[in-house]
Amino acid sequence: MTTFPVQKIERLIRISKEKPLLPEQFVPWQEPAEEADLFLPEKLVSLAGHPLYERLSPAQRRELGRHEVVQVMYSYGWSEGLACLFFNRHLLDLSPGDVEYRFLLRELIEEFRHQEMFSKAIEQLDGKPILPGFQHRFWGKLTVKFLPSDWVFMSVLAVEMMADVYGKLMRRDPRVYQVLRKVSELHHIEEGRHIHYTKLWLERYTQNAGFLRRTWYSLLFLLNIYFMRTLYVRREIFERIGVDRPAHYQKTAYRHFKHKFAEHCLDEAIEFMEDIGGFNWLTRPLWRLILKAKV
Ligand SMILES: [Fe+2]
Ligand SMILES: [Fe+2]
Repeated sequence: MTTFPVQKIERLIRISKEKPLLPEQFVPWQEPAEEADLFLPEKLVSLAGHPLYERLSPAQRRELGRHEVVQVMYSYGWSEGLACLFFNRHLLDLSPGDVEYRFLLRELIEEFRHQEMFSKAIEQLDGKPILPGFQHRFWGKLTVKFLPSDWVFMSVLAVEMMADVYGKLMRRDPRVYQVLRKVSELHHIEEGRHIHYTKLWLERYTQNAGFLRRTWYSLLFLLNIYFMRTLYVRREIFERIGVDRPAHYQKTAYRHFKHKFAEHCLDEAIEFMEDIGGFNWLTRPLWRLILKAKV
């Protein structure tokens, strides 16, 4: 088992304390959205790039982006709420002097600020998020309340990496509404530290892990990414933008988005899986089949 890199974690704690990013100051909330602004880069709009998208009016396309970004922010905020539940559970077994205890408190503080920031952004966009269904709620709560810590940290990492990819794509697209770009920038900076920590934490389990453990981590990662992707492309959204056959649009968008998602969102996750030896004869075909990953 490797020793925990105390110095590196102390540094992360220091940055969090000395350079706090407060959404109230960092995000220019007073700036209204311009007529030409996008709410979500087209790379992430489920239907963009498909012939059906061309049939939508410009107003419908913009609305699709608005509803989908609301759904994305809500889903990440909701997952962060789950992660906070787990961090609290984990803290109860640590001593207050532990570096891990002190880092997790910083992470909790930042995650609560993120959740507040996302809900403010949703309010600003006049969004109406669709709440998670029974399956998402059941498996999400079961995971954070009862599963072993390394399994949950692996799940948290998968979700954080996805949030980070979305943040990166949003902040880099100058056509996106500036409030959302700043929200993404803040989230990207702080999630970078959380991801760093989670990877360090997991090293004691991933180094020297055998075939079974690597396989299980890979499946957990895959399931979490799938879980996030399925919170997002929704029939209700197509009903709201007023298309004639919303169920057909949703099905098409779902199939189309699978491939776009694989193209734009999986690089980091694949790289991490390669690092920990998560691809083998069993997991590789599943990543190809379920996530359309080119592995
Ligand atoms: Fe976050
Ligand atoms: Fe985080």
